[in-house]
Amino acid sequence: MNAAAAAGAWRLGDLEVNRIGYGTMRLTGNGMMGNSDGPPIDRDVAVGLLHSAFEQGVNHIDTAAFYFSPLRSANELLNRALSSWRGDVVVVTKVGPARDPSGEWVYGARPDQLRGQVEENLRQLGRDCLDVVNLRVGGPRTASIAEHFGALAELREAGLVRHLGLSAVLPEHVAEAQAIAPVVCVQNSYGLDWRRADESGLVDLCGEQGIAFVPFFAVSGLRREAPADQEHDARVRAVARAHDATPAQVRLAWTLHRGPHVLAIPGTANPAHLAENIAAGALRLTGEELAVLGR
Ligand SMILES: NC(=O)c1ccc[n+]([C@@H]2O[C@H](COP(=O)([O-])OP(=O)(O)OC[C@H]3O[C@@H](n4cnc5c(N)ncnc54)[C@H](OP(=O)(O)O)[C@@H]3O)[C@@H](O)[C@H]2O)c1
Repeated sequence: MNAAAAAGAWRLGDLEVNRIGYGTMRLTGNGMMGNSDGPPIDRDVAVGLLHSAFEQGVNHIDTAAFYFSPLRSANELLNRALSSWRGDVVVVTKVGPARDPSGEWVYGARPDQLRGQVEENLRQLGRDCLDVVNLRVGGPRTASIAEHFGALAELREAGLVRHLGLSAVLPEHVAEAQAIAPVVCVQNSYGLDWRRADESGLVDLCGEQGIAFVPFFAVSGLRREAPADQEHDARVRAVARAHDATPAQVRLAWTLHRGPHVLAIPGTANPAHLAENIAAGALRLTGEELAVLGR
């Protein structure tokens, strides 16, 4: 069954992926960065969830070495799942931020520290070359990323990384990076309720340059408190009812309608949510519905 292909595919450099993918952050807990106060997910359950995603056609996984809870690491679980899977799966990881072994944030890496972060991902994932590495930008939003991206471009030249991407960036960062090495994907927070990447022109710019735009927080959203949000949520629910779908599926379908270069990486530890999210690739919203939701 290849439900994840219902929305089509896109290329990350020479690697083709179905537009519905999966993010590992929620696999180790439902808090930010996979933190969890509850019991750790059973390893076989986690591997089963990932295999279920692969069986449904997911072949694009987003991850990070800093997605971990006290007793589980997203990369460890992914490594286990991939070692018992025969199909091709493209793994995208990210570097820049770091947490110490107890989980505290320690720094945003200097350019010379990125090699160690790439090597940490190689070790955890059991690979000699990473498919795609995103530079996750922190610090002042407008600061230059040239030194950091240049350091990753050197690792690409050295064969440790196949393709490079960016995360949490502005359009000017894409231009700066593209002048150094090709950018295959850009990962920013984006969704029905949070459209900064539209306001800055980033989503369209990526499409024009053939770069995948990969929103995170497309399901959970970033704000939901003002009365206007509740009204908006009601519109999402109404559209969902019309399709016998769920609000999460409408949110995912809305991001996908923004262009063939937009990919989805919803995170979940719930098998029913996983199937729902993958099935959202087949949901087509009408022009009228898009107008109601806001294009
Ligand atoms: N580049 C970056 O800076 C950055 C930052 C954050 C995340 N990411 C990546 O982006 C991925 C996506 O972000 P995310 O996982 O935080 O956000 P998300 O996909 O928008 O939402 C995940 C949350 O929504 C719930 N959920 C998922 N599917 C659902 C459904 N069908 N119905 C109801 N609830 C649903 C999940 O809980 P359940 O487990 O209960 O389903 C979880 O709480 C991450 O996994 C990570 O790989 C990147």
